[in-house]
Amino acid sequence: MSYSSTEPKGDSSNTPILSWSNLNYDVKTKAGVRRVLHDISGEVYPGELVAIMGSSGAGKTTLLNVLSGRVQGGRLYGDIKFNGDKRNPHNFKRMVAYVEQDDLLFAPLTVNETLTTSAQLRLPDTKYSSDEKHERVDAVMRQLRLTHVRDSPIGGYGARGVSGGERKRVSIGVELVTDPSILVLDEPSSGLDSSSAEMVVALTKEMSRERNLCTLMTIHQPSTEMVQMFDKLILVSQGKLIYMGPMKQAIPYFESLGFPSTNPNPANFFIDLTTIDFTSDEAMRKSEQHVQALADSFVEFRTNGGCLPSTAVSTGTSASASVIGSHIASAAPSFAKSNLDMDITQNAADLVLYDPPAINSWFNEFWVLLKRDWALAVRNTSMLYGLAAMGITTIIFLGFVFFQLKHDQASVQNRVGALFMFALLCSYPIIFPVISLIISGRSVLVRERSAGMYRMTAYFFAKSLSFFPLAIIPYTITYIGVYFIAHFQYDAAKFFIGLANTYVLLFTAIGFAFGIAMLVQRIEVALIIAPVTMSNLILFAGNLANSHAVTPVLRWIKYLCMYYYSYAAFMQNEFGGLEFTCDEGSSSCYRTGEDVIEMYGLNAQAIWLCIVLNLVLGIGNYIIAYGLTRWLAKPRYLWI
Ligand SMILES: Nc1ncnc2c1ncn2[C@@H]1O[C@H](COP(=O)(O)OP(=O)(O)O)[C@@H](O)[C@H]1O
Ligand SMILES: [Mg+2]
Repeated sequence: MSYSSTEPKGDSSNTPILSWSNLNYDVKTKAGVRRVLHDISGEVYPGELVAIMGSSGAGKTTLLNVLSGRVQGGRLYGDIKFNGDKRNPHNFKRMVAYVEQDDLLFAPLTVNETLTTSAQLRLPDTKYSSDEKHERVDAVMRQLRLTHVRDSPIGGYGARGVSGGERKRVSIGVELVTDPSILVLDEPSSGLDSSSAEMVVALTKEMSRERNLCTLMTIHQPSTEMVQMFDKLILVSQGKLIYMGPMKQAIPYFESLGFPSTNPNPANFFIDLTTIDFTSDEAMRKSEQHVQALADSFVEFRTNGGCLPSTAVSTGTSASASVIGSHIASAAPSFAKSNLDMDITQNAADLVLYDPPAINSWFNEFWVLLKRDWALAVRNTSMLYGLAAMGITTIIFLGFVFFQLKHDQASVQNRVGALFMFALLCSYPIIFPVISLIISGRSVLVRERSAGMYRMTAYFFAKSLSFFPLAIIPYTITYIGVYFIAHFQYDAAKFFIGLANTYVLLFTAIGFAFGIAMLVQRIEVALIIAPVTMSNLILFAGNLANSHAVTPVLRWIKYLCMYYYSYAAFMQNEFGGLEFTCDEGSSSCYRTGEDVIEMYGLNAQAIWLCIVLNLVLGIGNYIIAYGLTRWLAKPRYLWI
């Protein structure tokens, strides 16, 4: 496969697309405040392919996050300019395409669907027709050599799908269906074999040239061929800048400092030169001093205009050393100043918490998201089988344990038990899958939100709505099966009231699940919190503890309990109007259904009121869940 390898279109006389000066970043650790980035300055130009290298823990990802406006927590100081001006968080978010180290994609969707969804959400309808969006997707697939896998699922997490290299290219494609000015990739080659990794770098280079796009990537162990593809190198160690300039000039630069290349692969040479040796305290101190000396040398080099001594230049490959000078000189004065003055007095970053203005209409966003959520739900075949199994076992067990209920005293207990069990079975098998689906999609949500792809209300409505058919279809069938086999009161009004009560309980339960998922965020914790909360709520449902007899301190909880409302409605609906025979010789017995309801203390609200209050509780659950989504799934980025 051949890749084009022209020179970047943007030349050094242009304004840099991104420039930064005196970046300092501190984080709090147990041992105190730790500086992760020290006074980093630099700039990059359109069309350039820039490698950020350094050993593990050097600060590469942190630098990349700072530059792309994705840094969370800690304190950040310095200045970053986009196209020569202060960055506007709204525009910048959409001008920077960020490809995370882990591919955050939905495994069941195909390559084409993944890219199309991104195009539909990110390209404005005012500028692109639907056909143009599809053409755009096709072009991106061609450029990233993905056409042959267009209809293959992404896969992952044990599901079969495209290869790792292809998946990485899809992640890049998701970002490149729009026209960003800066493409940022964190370790795009990690986990890939060398030829896939090389292809990723070569293709990003090709795209950078074609689109005059500045690409910054952190890269681990690139091959010699890959190193040669980069235009620029940013080498960091211990959060300090060791070198920034044309890749071709890096080796001559280190030679001029007295460190001739000792490794045929320049990347290994750079890493060896800057790695901290942790084998002993003495070795560590020495290597730290060495890194500090290298960092100081680079400051000096820049202060002097970034010129290599002529001997070093003569050994340089092709480009003249003065090119580095012109690239670097502009940042040098401020860089030198702040190095003398370690008290940081520059800009401190603020938190940005607002979402950018929308690209497309609310309904379009909602529709695209709903289609995607629905595809994710129906392709989750194991979950569909699980719901079918739930329906069948419920019909068999509830239907036949309580088969053809009679009107004796035993049937009272059976009705009480059957209705209670049905209310529980309307929540457990739906709450847990919903929690896990929401939590598993959360990282994609945060990524898409960071890119400002859609409104949170559109996400929330689409996501909630996509669960309803999953609940309604199996539970309608289950309800009908249990109703007729157990022989609840055959009466059209009662049948439909019971069904409506079932739907409202499902609605409320899904809202509850959404809230728990957004609150807890981690699946293993949610699977503790949810059943504990549900089981404690069940205490107030009016079956296990008599509703009237609960201590007044806790009695109010039943008004927040979906099981209480639905159970009270089921009980009143079924027992209302029933008459029972008394067993011979027994001193006390229930003569009417009303006696039973009275005894259980479930007649405080009429059926319709129970259903309405449960609906109101459900709406409350969704409002809380929405608030949690809005605030807790919100990336909190520091901004300068
Ligand atoms: N928020 C943070 N809290 C604590 N330590 C951090 C934080 N962010 C970064 N660091 C530390 O800063 C150093 C650089 O991290 P990173 O940028 O991820 O390195 P890498 O070069 O491997 O990508 C690491 O030692 C890391 O532990
Ligand atoms: Mg990293």
